[in-house]
Amino acid sequence: MNKTIINRLLVNRNNNHLFKRTYSSVGNKIPRDPKYAVINSKDIDYFRSILKDPNQILTDKDDVDPFNCDWMKKFKGNSQLVVKPKTTEQVSKILSYCNEKKIAVVPQGGNTGLVGGSVPVHDEIILSLANMSKVESFDPITGVVTVQAGCILENIENYLVPLGYTVPIDLGAKGSCQIGGNASTNAGGIRLLRYGSLHGSILGVEAVLADGTVLDCLSTLRKDNTGYDLKQLFIGSEGTLGVITKLSFITPPKPTSVNVALFSCHSFDRVQQVLIRAKKQLGDILSAFEFMDRPCIDLVLKHQAGTREPFDDSTPFYVLMETSGFNEVHDGEKLSSFLESIMGDELIVDGSVATDSKNMTSFWKLRETITESLGKEGATYKYDLSLPIDQFYQLVAVMREKLDGKALVYGFGHVGDGNLHLNISTPNQSYSKDMLDMIEPFVYEYTSKHRGSISAEHGIGAMKSQHLHFSKSDPAIHLMKSIKHAMDPNNILNPYKVLPQ
Ligand code: FAD
Ligand code: MLT
Ligand code: ZN
Repeated sequence: MNKTIINRLLVNRNNNHLFKRTYSSVGNKIPRDPKYAVINSKDIDYFRSILKDPNQILTDKDDVDPFNCDWMKKFKGNSQLVVKPKTTEQVSKILSYCNEKKIAVVPQGGNTGLVGGSVPVHDEIILSLANMSKVESFDPITGVVTVQAGCILENIENYLVPLGYTVPIDLGAKGSCQIGGNASTNAGGIRLLRYGSLHGSILGVEAVLADGTVLDCLSTLRKDNTGYDLKQLFIGSEGTLGVITKLSFITPPKPTSVNVALFSCHSFDRVQQVLIRAKKQLGDILSAFEFMDRPCIDLVLKHQAGTREPFDDSTPFYVLMETSGFNEVHDGEKLSSFLESIMGDELIVDGSVATDSKNMTSFWKLRETITESLGKEGATYKYDLSLPIDQFYQLVAVMREKLDGKALVYGFGHVGDGNLHLNISTPNQSYSKDMLDMIEPFVYEYTSKHRGSISAEHGIGAMKSQHLHFSKSDPAIHLMKSIKHAMDPNNILNPYKVLPQ
């Protein structure tokens, strides 16, 4: 087994170089609903009166612009105002006023979302949670942490690690995304395989409803069967049902023995065989099982300084696997026998195990910088799908054939969770309607036909609201609309998103 050393990259907080080509010229923007008020100087005076600190209100174009544009520089709105409350009470007053005046509002966390949900479609005001970033409490007996929604995920991790705990979610955007944004998108990431979805980890939510009502469901109880589990409505609803201001969640003890391995495989079938063995033989110490195809490796090697070819021979598929436990000897033995089994049966072509943190970060860099590297190539059409495992890579091959060299097709993702990230890139080109028409609705139809999901983890946002029917039945969409209407009758919260118009 060889070992390589590369430095880990944390996502740059200012990804201004990425995706310079905006989508608005290609996407069919939903027209502005005239029922919404256009903000005026009286509204701004009101917000000043409740927020007090002048830094909590941005009106200058240069200050507002970064909040108008998403991480990919693909979706761009035209808001004239950003408000940055510091307390739940301030959020409540803002929403109560907006509801009365019919002013539309976009809640914004770290603005790392990949479906255009965090930026305005038109001139909705932006409610940024960035000033609500305190860890409120931690219970060392239950491991439950209570935080304000604007806490950056990595900062919570840094708070927990000295206490011997860790966050149950990890993703490439950890340096910028906020826990409120993670909850609102029900973000998945690389630890979902081990710790499950946020629907399970989150125990309590404090949210402000569209009319300013503060809904205190901030339980820290593991078990609470008192009627409808209302907090779940806010998890994954992308800011359309309320603004999350605080939440509590279970944190697992930080594993003390971690191994990261990289494998290369000849076929996707072998990747699946390795996954089955990993689940059976590693059991509860398996904490991540990620896959990327060869074009992804080439892309990262091209764009990320300090990366290098992992193995002597190039193969079509790569797996990044992590184990985490608490007993180095026991975990090491389990890993060794697993490695012997997959090598003995020639399921892998080559492999390398990193046991020190430098090597581990180098392996993770190959996986976690794919998104950023794609951004450096040009316009990228991103699809985040759940597919049955037998169809998982098939779609990548189908798209390559269909596009016939007119675009580059990349496949990677959380194969352990059945989540494919299908990315179609057109280097040095702008987003084009012709290209979009070659991809959509085909990709969604294919996914629907195989009973997959058109959004495994990124959400629906502005990008897929008109395609929701590919994954939800008419009665389900009808019920979603009824819930939305009951909670936000004036539809001021994140309009034009998630639900089809
Ligand atoms: P934002 O982008 O600001 O907002 C996302 C949505 O949530 C919007 O609809 C917004 O209105 C709403 N929202 C935000 N905060 C609140 C709040 N307090 N109350 C109500 N609504 C709110 N996602 C994954 O699931 N898995 C991954 O592995 C993953 N990796 C990524 C890697 C990179 C490099 C990048 C750039 C993104 C990645 N993402 C991933 C997507 C994104 O990071 C996640 O969706 C993340 O959870 C968004 O958090 P945020 O704070 O940036 O939210
Ligand atoms: C990932 O798993 O890397 C993210 O979901 C980001 C992406 O899909 O580009
Ligand atoms: Zn992902």
